[in-house]
Amino acid sequence: MFYTKMSKHLIVLAVLFCWSNAEESNIPNNFSIGVSTAAFQIEGGWNEGGRGPSIWDTFTHNFPDKVKDKANADVACDSYHKFDKDLKALVNLKVNHYRFSISWTRILFNGDNSTFNQKGVDYYNYVIDKLIEHKITPLVTMMHYDIPEELMALGGMTNFEFVSYFETYASNLFMLFGDRVKNWITFNEPIDYCMNGYGTGTDPPAIVKSGIADYLCIQNTLKSHAVAYRLYREKFYPTQKGRIGISLSTQFYFSKTNDVSAVNRAMQYKLGFLAHAIYSKVGGFPEFLVEEIASNSLRENRVRSRLPQFNEHWKNMIRGSADFLGLNYYSTRYVEEENPPTGPNPSYQRDSRLKFSVDPSWKRAKSTWLYMVPKGLENLLKYIRDEYDNVEVIVTENGWSDDGDLHDNDRVEYIRSHVQAVLNAIEDGCNVTGYTTWSLMDNFEWREGYR
Ligand SMILES: *[C@@H]1O[C@H](CO)[C@@H](O)[C@H](O)[C@H]1NC(C)=O
Ligand SMILES: *[C@@H]1O[C@H](CO)[C@@H](O)[C@H](O)[C@H]1NC(C)=O
Ligand SMILES: *[C@@H]1O[C@H](CO)[C@@H](O)[C@H](O)[C@H]1NC(C)=O
Repeated sequence: MFYTKMSKHLIVLAVLFCWSNAEESNIPNNFSIGVSTAAFQIEGGWNEGGRGPSIWDTFTHNFPDKVKDKANADVACDSYHKFDKDLKALVNLKVNHYRFSISWTRILFNGDNSTFNQKGVDYYNYVIDKLIEHKITPLVTMMHYDIPEELMALGGMTNFEFVSYFETYASNLFMLFGDRVKNWITFNEPIDYCMNGYGTGTDPPAIVKSGIADYLCIQNTLKSHAVAYRLYREKFYPTQKGRIGISLSTQFYFSKTNDVSAVNRAMQYKLGFLAHAIYSKVGGFPEFLVEEIASNSLRENRVRSRLPQFNEHWKNMIRGSADFLGLNYYSTRYVEEENPPTGPNPSYQRDSRLKFSVDPSWKRAKSTWLYMVPKGLENLLKYIRDEYDNVEVIVTENGWSDDGDLHDNDRVEYIRSHVQAVLNAIEDGCNVTGYTTWSLMDNFEWREGYR
């Protein structure tokens, strides 16, 4: 993995260069191009410099069989010690911005402020100062999957107290780094860590309680995000003048039979589950989704809906609590409404009633779920334009996996065609201001290890 690292950089560099020469005239001159990483996937130094354990540390240590090749991220790309090498790569790539995440337990060992750790602060000060010295804009994710293990004794993200812990963490970050960091992302891909961590239980904290705990996780994510946003606007924005968003992941969906309601259903259960509360004019969860889950809950003889409602206070807190939408897009599916529903009772799968398929002509990456469909990104951006009042969008992830062949022509094709999709969308009036490819370097790919 490490010996291929430099070559990978050169190839991505070549891609960006070829593309920028060919398409230069189309690119708005304030459009920002960058690359992305996440703390747990690259840093290593898992118990160094006063860092505490996150749920991904305990998961990889306690259940090695759940990760391919029994890999862990104790060392990973060793960015904790080798950031200077990362920086060199970023400079060579001539990126405008670098999206990376901060490890909560490096700053607060146990997740709370009684375990404040100056050494962790020093590390990120170094990273941020070096980026700025090289005119690379930091785009900082506060939480990229790695919540403090300590919070699991309280039920992790199913506990409403999580919101206060996150507020304290966010407050520290604004206080410590906000003089230099002007672009913040609160959470990365909530639909994924909530569904996989608290629903199907394939990812840490491995809670299997779909249709219940995953919905609580989404609730508390939205509340935490909003509290951090409001805190920033009130206390920090007047002097720091930065911006805050959240990175939401979704595929786009096509219908073979032109069934608009199936496409809308899929978009609302994936993107809308979080985006509607923040970016729609009315706020709250999508209405039909609320009604369906409530009536499914009734049918199960529950006294209340498995999806608790936001009261007016929270609805207003969350609605409008973002300056931009971070979008992680990789792939597209065909979708149809599933009748009768399948999946465990209850579950998100059973509530959402969606059946997915792919077009056999789509090119597939080494990741079995990743098909190359650039048109999906273009259509997704138009969907967001129409659904969320043309909110500003930064593509915060988009990329292609392979298994180390350095002649990675498919990656070249993927990045070119997806950047072109973004440019097409911009020409159609979509408010997209940045593109970020995943990833700066080969890294710990969660349950897929280093393959
Ligand atoms: C970017 O530039 C375009 C024109 O090139 C302009 O319409 C738009 O407002 C600018 N956006 C930002 C965020 O500065
Ligand atoms: C957390 O604790 C540190 C060290 O005691 C302190 O400097 C900081 O202001 C505290 N943060 C908050 C949000 O209170
Ligand atoms: C793009 O988004 C920004 C920030 O949300 C907003 O101020 C601007 O009006 C939007 N531009 C368009 C063309 O809608």
